Parts: sequence; C-alpha cells; structure tokens
Amino acid sequence: MRNEVALVTGAAQGLGRGFSEALLRRGAKVCVADIKVQTGEATVLNFQQQFGRDRVFFVKCDVTSEEDVKAAVQATRGRFGKLTIMVNNAGMSSEAEWSKMVDVNLKGVIVGTQEAVAAMRRDAGGQGGVVVNIASAAGLIPVHTTPVYAATKFGVVGFTRSWAANPHLPSLGLSFSCICPTFTDTDMIVHDDSRKGRCLYSEDSQRVMAEVGVMPVSQVVSAFEQLLDSPDNNGVVMAVTNIKGVRIRRHGRPSRL
Ligand SMILES: NC(=O)c1ccc[n+]([C@@H]2O[C@H](COP(=O)([O-])OP(=O)(O)OC[C@H]3O[C@@H](n4cnc5c(N)ncnc54)[C@H](O)[C@@H]3O)[C@@H](O)[C@H]2O)c1
Repeated sequence: MRNEVALVTGAAQGLGRGFSEALLRRGAKVCVADIKVQTGEATVLNFQQQFGRDRVFFVKCDVTSEEDVKAAVQATRGRFGKLTIMVNNAGMSSEAEWSKMVDVNLKGVIVGTQEAVAAMRRDAGGQGGVVVNIASAAGLIPVHTTPVYAATKFGVVGFTRSWAANPHLPSLGLSFSCICPTFTDTDMIVHDDSRKGRCLYSEDSQRVMAEVGVMPVSQVVSAFEQLLDSPDNNGVVMAVTNIKGVRIRRHGRPSRL
C-alpha cells in the first residue's frame, strides 16, 4: 500500500480510527476527516508519532456539507497528489434526530462517493481507486428498534451495489464495496436514544444486542483489510459478525444473519 492515498470520514474515533490506523500500518497516506476537531487532532497527533508527520493529517469535515466533502478531497489531493481509497464511514444512530441521521448516514455517503469518483476516475485524470462504504447489518436485515437507521443503511447497500453494477468500471478504474457489521464496541452503541424516537418497543434494543453480541473494533478492521486485499472486490457486500452461518456474497445478500 506504499502508493495508496486514503480519505476516511468519521475517522476521529471508533471504526474510522481503526480503518485509518490499519491503512497507515500498511504504508498508505491518510486524511483523517471528522466533525469532531479536538478528538480528530488528538488521533492524528498519535498517528503522526507512530507513523511519521508527513503520512497523515486532519481535516474538519461535516459530511452533510457538499463543500466540506469537496474541500476534504481537494486537501487530500493537494497534500498527497491523489486519492485512491475513499472510506465513507461517518455515521450516527439516533432515531430521535432521524432527519439529520438520513443526511449523515445516507446523503453523506452519496456525496462522499460522488466526490471520490470525480477525483479517482481514470478518464478524467485520476488514477482509479476503491470506494468502501460502511453500512451495517441493519442494511441487510430488518431492525424494528431502529427503523430509520436501518433505512439509511439499506440505502447505503443499494447505492453501493448500484455503482458496482456499472459496466464501465474497468475503464474508469473504480471499484465499490460495502461492509455490514453487527454491533461493534464503539461510542455508537453506548448512546442509545431510540426510546426518544417514534419507533415502538425500542426497549427491545438491549435484548437484541445481548443476543447478537458485541464485536471488538479489531474484528471489523480485519474484515476491512481482507476486503482491500481481495484482488476483485467490486460489488462485495461484506457482513461482519460473530453469528455463525454468514458468508460473504458478491452481488447478493448473506444467507442468514
Ligand atoms: N458500532 C456499531 O455497532 C456499528 C455497527 C454497524 C455499522 N456501524 C457504522 O460504522 C460507522 C462508524 O461508527 P462507529 O461505530 O465508529 O461510531 P462512533 O460514534 O464511534 O464514530 C462515528 C464518527 O463519525 C463522526 N461523525 C458523525 N457525524 C458526522 C458528520 N456529519 N460529519 C463527519 N463526521 C461525522 C463522529 O464524530 C465520529 O467520530 C458508522 O457509519 C456506523 O453506522 C457501526
């Protein structure tokens, strides 16, 4: 990955931080983009101490702002000369703030993908690249405790698969895939405000989490690395879970979760 240049949104903490660290460990250069400035800058300082000052930088970026996303892509290209890996990871879970959640989880991924495509497409001066969108198991199976969150993640899966189905991708040099984890040990599962939303029986969420279990961030990061290492990852919808019986399917859905 010596020549790869990545932009990871929502990378100040949690999964985005884990993906960024893995990319840096493998030799890529990384732009850490997040709305949280203090946490993002502290993360980047830590990374610079481990991997070198010139390999990673922070950009304040709200993925609900097209201007911010465009500026983050431009900053990455300005600093490192190109963009070859886009990880649209920024997300939130709040049924109470459902409209904002649609903006962050779905529109943010759409804008991030569009800007990455514009920067990476070979026919417009880019060097090709990979778009990895972070969806969720809630984008593959119904989740009655968080229906709006599930809607955004089903949207991300459909959006990614639709890009992946484009027959012109080989000449553009692009690939599109997404990762669909079950519960993972980050801040997101701590701040559960689903009871304030409009769904019914949201109190079931703690029981569902106990049944499904919670994975460490490292497990999802390993899956991410496996995806990047796959020579043909276009169209992969990767379920990541401890529940037995789930297989990775190309252009399909897991047999069961
Ligand atoms: N933790 C889980 O159980 C789980 C499971 C499946 C999928 N996911 C998905 O993984 C992704 C990362 O979440 P996480 O678990 O690391 O949670 P997290 O809350 O630790 O991290 C989310 C990051 O996104 C950033 N963010 C939020 N809104 C933003 C915005 N408008 N612009 C830019 N950045 C913004 C936050 O500041 C934060 O740094 C999300 O898309 C989430 O939906 C999480």
